Amino acid sequence: MADEREIRVGIIGAGGIAGAHAERYKRVPGARVVAVADVLPGRAQGFIDRYGLEGARAYGDYREMLRDDLEAVSICTFNAAHYEPTMAALEAGKHVLLEKPMAVRLSQGLDMVRAARRANRMLSIGFQSRYDPNVQQARRVVHSGGLGKVYYAETGGGRRKGIPGGTFVRKETAVGGAVLDIGCYSLDTALWIMGDPRPLAVSATTSDYFGKSPVYARQAWGGTMRPEDFDVEDFGVAFIRLEADAVLVFKISWAMHFDSLGHTFFLGTEGGLDLDQLRLYHDTYGLGAATDLPRRDSNWGDQFLRKIQAFVEAVRDGGPAPIPGERILHATAILDALYRSAAERAEVKVELPPV
Ligand SMILES: NC(=O)c1ccc[n+]([C@@H]2O[C@H](COP(=O)([O-])OP(=O)(O)OC[C@H]3O[C@@H](n4cnc5c(N)ncnc54)[C@H](O)[C@@H]3O)[C@@H](O)[C@H]2O)c1
Repeated sequence: MADEREIRVGIIGAGGIAGAHAERYKRVPGARVVAVADVLPGRAQGFIDRYGLEGARAYGDYREMLRDDLEAVSICTFNAAHYEPTMAALEAGKHVLLEKPMAVRLSQGLDMVRAARRANRMLSIGFQSRYDPNVQQARRVVHSGGLGKVYYAETGGGRRKGIPGGTFVRKETAVGGAVLDIGCYSLDTALWIMGDPRPLAVSATTSDYFGKSPVYARQAWGGTMRPEDFDVEDFGVAFIRLEADAVLVFKISWAMHFDSLGHTFFLGTEGGLDLDQLRLYHDTYGLGAATDLPRRDSNWGDQFLRKIQAFVEAVRDGGPAPIPGERILHATAILDALYRSAAERAEVKVELPPV
C-alpha cells in the first residue's frame, strides 16, 4: 500500500493557471491545497470558493502564507513576480513548483537554484511538455545515440493569429511576449532532447509589428485592447551556438502572415528526427530510409496532471525535483542572451558561472 502521507500545499497567484494546479492537486491522493495567496483583494478567497478548496485559508500577502503549516507551494504568479515569491518560499523551507519560464535574467535563475541548495528544498519548473510520451520517445532515440552526433536543430512554433491579452502583453507583468509565453516550451523540449548542451552565444531579433498594429488590435481583441499598451515582442528568432559545434535555431511568433514557422527537427551524423511527424531518417544498408515512430495519445491535461503528481510524489519521497531548476539554467541563459542580443542587434556571448 502506497504511503499517502498528506502533502499540504499553498498556491501563490490565483489567476488563470493556478486553477489548473488546484484542480490537479484535488485529483492526487493525499495532496491538499490548504492556502492561497493573491495580491488582488478578494481574489484568493474567490479562488478557494470557485475550486471548492475546503478549509483553505486566503491571504493577501504570500509572506504571511509562508508562515502557515504547509510544506510545498505552487508559484503561479505572472513572470515578473516569479523571483521574489520563489526566493521567499525556499528561504521559508518550502518545496517549490514554479511555473514556466523559470526566469529571464540568468542572475535570478542562479539565485533561485542556489537558494534551493542552501535550503535543501526542491525547485521544480512547470514544463509539463516533458511528460508528453512522444517527446520522451524522441529523447530516448537521441540519448541512445540513434542520430549520432546532433550538430543542428530547429525548434519553435507559431500562431497565425494568437496574441493573448491581459498580463501577457505588458512588460511590467510578463517581462517578455511570445518567446516567454509559448517559445520557452519549444526551447526546453529541444534542449532536453539534445541532452542540455551548454550555450555559448546567441544572435537574436524580436519584433512587435502585430501587437502594435491598430488594425490587428481591432480584429483580435474587439477593440478592447489598445496597441499602445502592448510593449512585449510578438515574434522572436535566435541563432544559438552550443558546445561541441552544434547550433539550435529557435523561432516563435504569436502572429504572422503564415501558418507555421516549421517543424522541430534534429540533424545528426547518423540520422535525423522530425519531432512533429515523429519520423526518424536513417541510412540502413546504404539506403536513405525513414521510419515512423509509434505515436501515443497525449494531451495538455494529462501532462499537467502528471506534472502535479510527480511534484507531490517527489515531496513525499524527499526528492529529487522532477524538473530541477538547475537543469533549466541553460535555457534561462539563452533567454537572457536572446533579449540582450535583440536589444544590441548583435551576437552576444553567454557567460555561465558555476552554480
Ligand atoms: N504551464 C502552463 O501550461 C502555463 C499556462 C499558462 C500560464 N503559465 C504561466 O503561469 C504564470 C501565470 O500565468 P496566468 O495566466 O495564471 O497569469 P494571471 O495574470 O492570470 O495570474 C497571475 C496572478 O498572480 C497574482 N500575483 C501577481 N503578483 C503577485 C504576488 N506578488 N503575490 C501574490 N499574487 C500575485 C496576480 O494578481 C494574478 O492573480 C505565468 O508565468 C505563465 O507563464 C503556464
